This record gives sequence, C-alpha cells and structure tokens, in this order.
Amino acid sequence: MAPEPPRPARELRRDALWELVGTIRRSLAQRGEILPAVWVEETVESIARGTGLGWFTGPTAQPTSLALLWAREGTGYGHLHSAGAGDPVAELSALATELLHHLPATVHRLDVGATGVTPEQEVAVGRRWSELPGTTVILRHSMVRDLSMDDVPPEPAVPEGVALVTVRKVPFDELCALDWRSYRGTPDETLLSESPAGNREMLENAFAGLFGTILDDASPAARTPDGTVVGFAVTCQEAIGVGILLDVAVAPEWRRKGLGRALLLRMLRALLALGYRRAHLWVTEGNAPARALYDRLGFRPDASAAIYRWSRPAPAGAEPPQRQSER
Ligand SMILES: CC(C)(COP(=O)(O)OP(=O)(O)OC[C@H]1O[C@@H](n2cnc3c(N)ncnc32)[C@H](O)[C@@H]1OP(=O)(O)O)[C@@H](O)C(=O)NCCC(=O)NCCS
Repeated sequence: MAPEPPRPARELRRDALWELVGTIRRSLAQRGEILPAVWVEETVESIARGTGLGWFTGPTAQPTSLALLWAREGTGYGHLHSAGAGDPVAELSALATELLHHLPATVHRLDVGATGVTPEQEVAVGRRWSELPGTTVILRHSMVRDLSMDDVPPEPAVPEGVALVTVRKVPFDELCALDWRSYRGTPDETLLSESPAGNREMLENAFAGLFGTILDDASPAARTPDGTVVGFAVTCQEAIGVGILLDVAVAPEWRRKGLGRALLLRMLRALLALGYRRAHLWVTEGNAPARALYDRLGFRPDASAAIYRWSRPAPAGAEPPQRQSER
C-alpha cells in the first residue's frame, strides 16, 4: 500500500519536531558528520517560523520520517530521516520527490543525505532515486587513523623551497583563492560550495569555530620563500580525543611533490602531541588522489554515506520530476 502523502513539518508539535531533528543530529554525529552546535534549535525555529521547509510522514504525535530542505546560492540541500517505524524505503522515496517538487526555480542542483536507515535500505532508496531523471548518487567515505605513541607518524619531509607555518599566519584572501583553485576539476568541486563567495563563507565559518575549535598546531600551511601559499590543511576538534580534517588543498602546480603528505604528517604529529587519540576525515569515492594519499598515511574507511544529487536538466527551465500522485 502506498504511504500517505507527506505533510508540512510545521503541522508537527514543536516538541515532536525537536525530538526528531535531535535524532537526526545524533545519527549524523554517530556517523562522524559535523554540524554547527545550534543546528537543532535553528532548524526547529526556522520551520516553526515558516522560513525553513520540512515534510513528514506518519501521525502528527509520532512522525515516522522527516525531510528538511534548505536553499542557498542556487543550490538546494536536503536531508531525509526515518524514525524506524513504517516503510522507510517507501516513505523516504516519497519525501525525496516532495523535496524536488518544492525546489525553488532558482535552484539548479539538490544534494540530499539520509539517516535512520540500514545500509540495505539506503541502497534501496538510492536505487529509487536513480530512477528519477537528472539524478546521481555520490558516495562519501569516513576514514579514521588511530594515534598512539607506539606508532608516531614520521616527521614531514617538506619539498625543497617550502616552509610550514600555522594556517592562521596566511592572509585569508590567499587561502580562499588557493582553496577555490585547488578543487576545480576534482569530484568535490561542486560538493562544498559553488562559488568563490560561498567557498569563502565556508572557510570563515570553519575558522569561526562553527564545526568545532580549530586546532592551530594541526592546521599547517605551506609557503614558498616569496610568501606564496601553495598548500594548507585545516583541522578542528570533532569530539573529545578526535580531530577532524576539514580541508586539505595543494596548488595544482605543486602536486605529486610530497606536499599533501607533509601537511597531513604535520597534522597527525600535532594531534598526537595535543593528546588526541584519533584523526578522522571524509572523502568522496571518486577523489582518487585524496583517497590514495589518506590510504598511504594509514587512514582506514569506517563508514560510508550517500549523497543523492539532482541536477536541473538542460535546457534551463526544465521542471523537477513530478510527485507520484501527479503522474
Ligand atoms: C589530494 C591532494 C591534497 C594531494 O596533494 P599532493 O601534494 O599532490 O600529494 P603528495 O604529493 O603528497 O602525494 C602523496 C601520496 O598520495 C598519493 N597520491 C597523491 N596524488 C595522487 C594521484 N593524483 N594519483 C594517485 N596517487 C596520488 C600517492 O600515493 C602519493 O605518493 P607518491 O607520489 O609517492 O606516489 C591534492 O591532489 C589536492 O589538493 N586535491 C584537491 C583538493 C582535494 O581534493 N582535497 C581533498 C579533499 S577530501
């Protein structure tokens, strides 16, 4: 039997919504994904005010799944969560099409994540998503490396002519320009931000501690003698004893010279010196250079998460796929 059509989340009681959004946050944290500390409150408030968008399935007192939608800079971000009851695959699939249906016309791409489903259910949701026109599934892997005094990472061998300093010593504009340039042509170029301004905002948020306190010693930048920044890594505290690599970038003309390796060895040694037990990061399946680098440094995959992407098909103005009930 087809599930009931999703209803707007503002119809939910605030405590039920709070509970569900809190569960999403916990599920994401358990998987090692980081969110701003105020995420639950802001999400619930925005839906209650009508500035945030969400839909749910199941009874109002005990919703069985929830979808959230944000849009900025022409890109939409969505999240699907199953509370476990009901038929998670059918409900999340219905919520996914609901998100597409409500996308503003200015949005040309939507990235959606999911929680509360088993790996098998997530594959089934992905399969249904892939049946819609204009969709792809991007796989991201969480990788970890344990740190201990029995296994101290070697000192970084920095390429000749380059010196490592803490990233805060580097002019912020230069950092932003290098970051933007470094990701062009990689599978991650559209994942984090789609414009230099959006990229800058993301770095500003990171340095403001939105995702956790920045660990300066574990966040090195590489400079040439004339002061040009050619690479950097940014790390923050994810949890007690766990540091997460938020970003690593090496200028294209400086690649395959051991600089990425040197930046990450500095990061690992600094984390160990600061008393951290574990280094963590996320990497996209198709980012072969980054995966090879992490693999060589002893990082091992410990979890995966799919991003369901929809891109507005050319020609511009084409509409998102219709909901099941409208076909
Ligand atoms: C990933 C990145 C930081 C690597 O920097 P780098 O300075 O070129 O890496 P290194 O020269 O230190 O490489 C160290 C090892 O990583 C692996 N590696 C790096 N680039 C590789 C590539 N293109 N293909 C295969 N292996 C690669 C190799 O094992 C290499 O050792 P080797 O050269 O002795 O074979 C760089 O490609 C980059 O900035 N990419 C864009 C930004 C990005 O994707 N960041 C990661 C986001 S998760």
